[in-house]
Amino acid sequence: MAMVEIGDLKEIVLRASKLMTREDMPRIARQRSFTDYTTATDIAVEDQIRKELKERYPSSLLVAEESSSLEYGEDWARSAFVLDPIDGTINFFHHLGTSAVSLAYVENGEVLHGIIYDPYREELFSATRGEGAYMNGHAVKTSLTCDLGNSLVGFGTSPYSKEKGLEMLRVAADVYLNCQDLRRLGAAAIDLAYVACGRLDAFFEKDLKPWDFYAGMLIISEAGGIISDWEGLPVRGLEKQDILAASPALHKKMLSLLEGYTGKGHFSEI
Ligand code: IPD
Ligand code: CA
Ligand code: CA
Repeated sequence: MAMVEIGDLKEIVLRASKLMTREDMPRIARQRSFTDYTTATDIAVEDQIRKELKERYPSSLLVAEESSSLEYGEDWARSAFVLDPIDGTINFFHHLGTSAVSLAYVENGEVLHGIIYDPYREELFSATRGEGAYMNGHAVKTSLTCDLGNSLVGFGTSPYSKEKGLEMLRVAADVYLNCQDLRRLGAAAIDLAYVACGRLDAFFEKDLKPWDFYAGMLIISEAGGIISDWEGLPVRGLEKQDILAASPALHKKMLSLLEGYTGKGHFSEI
């Protein structure tokens, strides 16, 4: 199999993302609930990337949102791509112009390459393990802010479960009282890319899937930030997880706010 080079992955992502900007009438192809749907473009982007990856790297596995489950056992980690063809599908459907393709390459359980591409702003965030994080070729770092009171914090509303979403809004209210302001962009991969380049000081959301955060996870750590679950533990294999990403100084402060919300008990007391 050809060596997996980040330059080739960037080209694959850039080519497929043209399907997003070309589409002016997004069409729902599958719907699981009134908040949870897939457009024909999500499927088309995923199909094109799968086809190109298969041609170039025939023995690698693809874990992709529109066609994969999270039940791969341990084998998936040997050599796999983890893909979200459109992160921010609700934004895409509403023409909000804040959606991205997110692609990670994993070997032996470690993310080696991560790419997040926002085709509307033409911003390509990328990282290769040990080589730093970049936006359109320029090195990026997480913010230097140490004071939560001066921080702009992103969060997600876990939109596919209104129950989880309400939990998120309760946590967000607590964080809101302690930070400068909150932002809800609607695309977790973009939130993570923005933490990596310091536009956001921190980001948190419950129940993210690996395709939402695998590329962002490497980009954040290569930008000097920390990504963990809400107890401060490292991200685990192919599971849904509660994610916190921030600069090292803010990560500790955010953790002390979120730790009260890690157990289910806390929510039932509210
Ligand atoms: C969603 C977006 C959203 C986040 C959700 C994700 P999708 O991904 O990242 O911002 O709140 O938790 O599932 O479904 O648009 O790929
Ligand atoms: Ca996603
Ligand atoms: Ca998606």
